[in-house]
Amino acid sequence: MFFMQESMPKLLIQGGKPLRGEVRISGAKNAALPVLCAALLTRETLAIRNIPQLNDVTTMLALLTQMGVSIKTETNNAIELSVENLTCLTAPYEMVKTMRAAILVLGPLLARAGEATISLPGGCAIGMRPVDQHIKGLEAMGAEITIKHGYIHAVAKKLRGTRIVMDIVTVTGTENLMMAATLAQGTTIIENAAREPEVIDLANCLNAMGAKVRGAGSDIITIEGVSTLHGAMHTVMPDRIETGTFLAAACATGGDIFLKETNARLLDAVLDKLTEAGAGIQSGDNWIHLKMNTKPRAVNLRTAPYPAFPTDMQAQFMSLNCVADGTAIITETIFENRLMHVQELKRMNADIKVEGHTAIIRGITQLDGANVMATDLRASASLIIAGLVAQGVTVIDRIYHLDRGYEAIEEKLSALGAHIKRAVGNSCDLARTAEW
Ligand code: EPU
Repeated sequence: MFFMQESMPKLLIQGGKPLRGEVRISGAKNAALPVLCAALLTRETLAIRNIPQLNDVTTMLALLTQMGVSIKTETNNAIELSVENLTCLTAPYEMVKTMRAAILVLGPLLARAGEATISLPGGCAIGMRPVDQHIKGLEAMGAEITIKHGYIHAVAKKLRGTRIVMDIVTVTGTENLMMAATLAQGTTIIENAAREPEVIDLANCLNAMGAKVRGAGSDIITIEGVSTLHGAMHTVMPDRIETGTFLAAACATGGDIFLKETNARLLDAVLDKLTEAGAGIQSGDNWIHLKMNTKPRAVNLRTAPYPAFPTDMQAQFMSLNCVADGTAIITETIFENRLMHVQELKRMNADIKVEGHTAIIRGITQLDGANVMATDLRASASLIIAGLVAQGVTVIDRIYHLDRGYEAIEEKLSALGAHIKRAVGNSCDLARTAEW
């Protein structure tokens, strides 16, 4: 076990360099994953552009291949998917446990093939994350669903359109039901739908395939079922969380960065908080420029569904607040266990107290580099930001979380002047011998 830890790659960061320069933002992970699943809804080819190269995308492609999808890689970021015949209607435990978004094959499989067997995702590090709303919605559309031996088994000769009122705002829940409804008989109305931009991106893809989806981006989505969907070409939207992560890192390090191929309109709540923290921000159609002239000021925030402040940016703002002037209060309202990075930040000397779902962060002058462990994807990003502002070397273990969701992050940060690299070995030795 000890040996295994040593052989796993780690990230080494030497703090103290402000981020400066230009970086291209990748396609959004959380838009790409549902769009890949949309390929299951048609016999024709779905061409997808701006697909990020991430481990979650690789896992999803492996799952789809197993189901009979043929994948043609055009370039690094462009692929074509087609599935004449579905050969397997099961998403096995091994895949769903590494990537919960695998639940997104449920709606499309049921709509096209009338049957699907998907492993129950189970809890994960950041919370319980049940899928009851996905199931409730599909049952309302006429699916018969049983749960046995840890698998959801769903059958429906033909799904029927209906009115579904979601008990809770769920992003993948809304996406699953929206995909299922495209091929249902009649009209489906999803109320209390998620308004996240990734839901709009998926609706745009589905509409390009001949679906009739209206209202995506609002809390009422109406889907008029059609008999078949056809091939299409879709370009995945920019990753608003990657964008926000680079901006928070530049703000924390006193940097000056220009992000291209992104969209400021997807990030209003995040940009407002960065401005409150003292950042000068300008943006155009597909770019954002952030310049920091002062030490950041502490900013309070509370996560909530879009368009409010995203839970996926909470950890990065925790690190920013660690080195800000003043005291900040951060409240996490979406996931019940998404403050695990606090323990790791405290190893770097951060002054944070947790009370329930709230963290109280008192800004200090300087974090100390330390050996820390990533506990989930966005926690990894927060530790990188902390490492970039810390004095000395930070070694981040368990970066497999990071590789699930950030494309070429070391290359991008290095291009902005950060001292960051990947290495294998014992954390203490790595910290002692690190050189740039
Ligand atoms: N929930 C239920 N029942 C359900 C579905 C959700 O109680 O049937 C609860 C969840 O437990 C959670 C809340 O509803 O407390 C919101 O969860 P949601 O379903 O919206 O999350 P998700 O769809 O599983 C997506 C993103 C997450 C992001 C959340 C919230 C994808 C693939 N994942 O997850 O992204 O945090 O929405 O915005 O779109 C990440 O990228 O790091 C990440 C975790």
